[in-house]
Amino acid sequence: MNTKVSITAILGFLCVTTYTTTFAYDGDWKRGRVYYRQVCTTCHTAKTDTAISPSSKTKAEWAAYITADKHAKGKESLKQYVSKQYRTSIKGSNKAAEKYIDVPEQELLEDIKAFVTHGAKDGDSPASCS
Ligand code: HEC
Repeated sequence: MNTKVSITAILGFLCVTTYTTTFAYDGDWKRGRVYYRQVCTTCHTAKTDTAISPSSKTKAEWAAYITADKHAKGKESLKQYVSKQYRTSIKGSNKAAEKYIDVPEQELLEDIKAFVTHGAKDGDSPASCS
């Protein structure tokens, strides 16, 4: 076997693996706030009569909620509401969905997480959602 070639191949493989398994992105809470208010809150006030505010949960509760990915009393996934498919379906009537149409789903979820963490009951700046 040609040693030089196989070392290059191994290094190449390691780089690709590291790249795809590490998600190095810091949530942008300001972008998360725009999306939360315009997409999440718009529906909450329309359908539940209550704007579900970030300050209704602690940071730990939000982290667990987002990880569990169970929305509306566990009936559905929360992630579907940050999906490109969902943004596309409402972009005609929703400015935030239209503006962030090309943002990767995982980034948008991190942004929302950053916003609700920032605005949590025990966060840096407890926030209502309107
Ligand atoms: C299309 C409408 C709609 C959208 C969009 C939506 N929600 Fe909801 N959400 C609901 C409804 C309806 C409930 C209440 C369900 C119930 O009480 O049975 C709810 C409940 C919740 C709750 C309370 C706990 C629970 O799951 O029952 C949280 C927290 C929540 N939503 C977060 C979010 C976040 C974050 C987003 C945006 C990424 C979002 N929702 C987008 C309709 C929506």
